[in-house]
Order: sequence, then structure tokens, then C-alpha cells
Amino acid sequence: MRAVVYKGPFEVAIEQVEDPRIQHPNDVLVRVTSTAICGSDLHMYEGRTAAEPGIVFGHENLGTVEETGEGVTTLSKGDRVVMPFNVACGFCKNCSAGFTGFCLTVNPGFAGGAYGYVAMGPYTGGQAEYVRVPYADFNCLKLPEGTEKETDFVLLADIFPTGYHGNELADVRPGDTVAVYGAGPVGLMAAYSAMLRGASKVFVVDRVAERLQKAEEIGAVPIDFTQGNPAEQIKEQTDGQGTDKGIDAVGYQAQAQGEDREEPAIVLNSLVETVRPTGALGIPGLYVPSDPGGPDESAKKGMLMVSVGRLFEKGLRLGTGQCNVKRYNRHLRDMIIEDRAKPSFVVSHELPLEQASSAYEKFDKRVEGYTKVVLHPQAA
Ligand SMILES: NC(=O)c1ccc[n+]([C@@H]2O[C@H](COP(=O)([O-])OP(=O)(O)OC[C@H]3O[C@@H](n4cnc5c(N)ncnc54)[C@H](O)[C@@H]3O)[C@@H](O)[C@H]2O)c1
Ligand SMILES: [Zn+2]
Ligand SMILES: [Zn+2]
Repeated sequence: MRAVVYKGPFEVAIEQVEDPRIQHPNDVLVRVTSTAICGSDLHMYEGRTAAEPGIVFGHENLGTVEETGEGVTTLSKGDRVVMPFNVACGFCKNCSAGFTGFCLTVNPGFAGGAYGYVAMGPYTGGQAEYVRVPYADFNCLKLPEGTEKETDFVLLADIFPTGYHGNELADVRPGDTVAVYGAGPVGLMAAYSAMLRGASKVFVVDRVAERLQKAEEIGAVPIDFTQGNPAEQIKEQTDGQGTDKGIDAVGYQAQAQGEDREEPAIVLNSLVETVRPTGALGIPGLYVPSDPGGPDESAKKGMLMVSVGRLFEKGLRLGTGQCNVKRYNRHLRDMIIEDRAKPSFVVSHELPLEQASSAYEKFDKRVEGYTKVVLHPQAA
């Protein structure tokens, strides 16, 4: 089958790879009709991780069931399904408690598994014609038959639940004011989720004009961090108080303000300044235990200079980590079905699999309005 294969830093290619096959009675094979490129894929694409050439990318996958293992009980050929990016067993201590992003079964020695992702286990990515789904009864979320709302539903694999998760981590409640750093797909989904949860005012910080515009279109207040300290800009619009809650949807590749270089701790420190005393921070943005491409020796070891003193002084709470997609995907699916949510406004491009190479390049450079790309390996 054809698949998006990582060739080395800043290069992917469409190549023929071995077809996946059922390896266990609980597996299914899914014929992939939509698969999205994620900001997390760029960490591998840019050569910042231990990902080896040859890995097939793709953890945001939707398609129809093609073949079922003999132990699968709830799925049949032809069912339309979307898979959480987390591969999870459903029965370990963490899965049982709802922490499917930290499954203890699927990736021994490391909590959590994912498709097509370095260090996340032996699960081939779905930017390909087919993908194997283990523990399939648990990992497939059924969708209404047909092809409707495919671009909304594919976002249930990762970024819609992840944006929502940022709000859970920050405990966003009706009436709260919320600052979201990052207007990438995750940040936009976090801002959108904050509104769904009844936030009174949502600020979105970035520097990419098209992305800030999308934030404005959904009713958020755009803050361009190249126009001055974002925490100060937000305080000016919240009676000098700062917001109740804050969400980091940027992660360790944060850009310094006013200079073209990375400053991995800047968003964390900005959030500590932006959120009012006793508030809370949700941090779905990715931080890593080692970043060989980090700008200094500490950053290379995953250690950042964060103002813990200010954090303590202000009595802020914080939550971090991978999204447990299973915790939210069913409710968010139902909101899409009932027209209460339409997350596909973040999708800027829908392309055939063949165009993956240029899509990666443009998405990585954040040019030509590339905000979120959905690839279509097979016709829906
Ligand atoms: N926790 C999870 O389960 C999970 C899931 C998916 C993605 N992620 C992570 O979420 C983060 C965002 O993902 P994405 O796909 O939206 O990525 P993205 O790279 O498309 O978006 C990040 C945005 O942050 C902006 N930015 C950079 N520096 C900034 C700064 N100092 N202040 C404000 N904005 C700044 C960039 O311009 C960009 O628009 C990544 O770190 C990704 O790995 C986490
Ligand atoms: Zn993703
Ligand atoms: Zn588990």
C-alpha cells in the first residue's frame, strides 16, 4: 500500500510499504479515508526526535472497517470509525481510570501508545491506505454511516479532544475568562472548547495573521505577541487582573517575543503572568524530557527556567500531559452530530495522500494559510 514515510529531517515521501495485517484476534484493519497532519508530526519531521527514517506517520485517522479479527465483537466490515491517537488497552489501571493516554499495556516501559509516533510503540501510522487498530472494540469510535461531516469527525482523533482537554486541565467553567497561547489547530480547538463550556471571554495569542483571524472568527480576542508583551495586552483588557484560566497550546517550540529564535519556557512564564492569582493552567502543549535541538544545555535536557516562585506566590494550579482522547471523543462526536459543534473551521487544506510532501513543507513553514491539513488516502 501507499504511505507517508519519513525519510530524514524535512523530508517525507509517498512509498510502497507492506500492507498491515491482523496480528491478534482483537485487531481490525481500517481503510483510511481521512488522516490529518499534526503539529506533533512536525517535531519528528524537523528531525528533533529519535524517529528513524522509515517510520510511517499518522495518528489522526478515520476510515471504514475493512477486516475484523475473530475476537472483535462490536465492529463489522463497512463501519465508519475514528480512532483516538492514543492506542490503549481499556483494562489496565490507567485505562480503567480514564487515563487512556497513559496505558500501561500497549507500550511496555513507557506510559502511553500512539500510531506512527516515535517512542509510542510499534503501531504503524495511518497516513496510508490502511491502518491496523489493536484492541479495536475499545479504540474505534463508531460514526454515523455515510460520508457526512468527515472533516469534523476526523478532528476527534486528536485536536478537538486535545483542545477540550486543555480546558479540563485548566478547569474552565462557565463565565471564566481564558487566555489560550497558540492559534495552531490545538489552540483554536482549545479556544472553541472554552466557548462551548461557556467562557465569558477568550483571548488567543499568536503571531500568524491567518490563525489569529480564525480565532477572531469564532469570537475570541486575538492578541499578536509581536505587538507587545501578551500578558500585558491581556491584563489591559481584564481590568488589570489577568484571566481566570490559561492554556498552553504551543509547547517547547515557543518563539521568543520580538526575535526569531526559540525560547522554550516563554509561554509557561507568560501564562504565569497572564492568569490571575488562584487561577489554573492547562498545558496540552508538548514538552519533552530531552530536546537535542534545544537552544541551550538545560533545554537539551528538557529542563526549563520557569518562574516557580511566581507560580507559588499566585497560588496557581496546573495540569499537563497527553490527552486521554477516549474520555471526551464520544461526547464531542455527539455535539458534532447534533450540530452543536463544528470544529472543521480549522481545516485549511484537504489533499490527496500524494501531496503529503509539499503539505508537510508548507505546514511546517506555516505559509499559505496552512493551518490544518487533512489527507485522503482513499475515497470516502
Ligand atoms: N497533549 C496532547 O495530547 C497533544 C496532542 C496534540 C498536539 N499537542 C501539542 O500541542 C502543541 C500545539 O499543536 P498544534 O498542532 O496546534 O501546533 P502548531 O505548531 O501548528 O501551533 C503552535 C502555534 O503556536 C504559535 N506560537 C509560537 N510561539 C508562540 C508564543 N511565544 N506565544 C504564542 N504563540 C506562539 C505558533 O505561531 C503556532 O501557530 C504542540 O506542542 C503539539 O505537539 C499535544
Ligand atoms: Zn495529533
Ligand atoms: Zn491500558
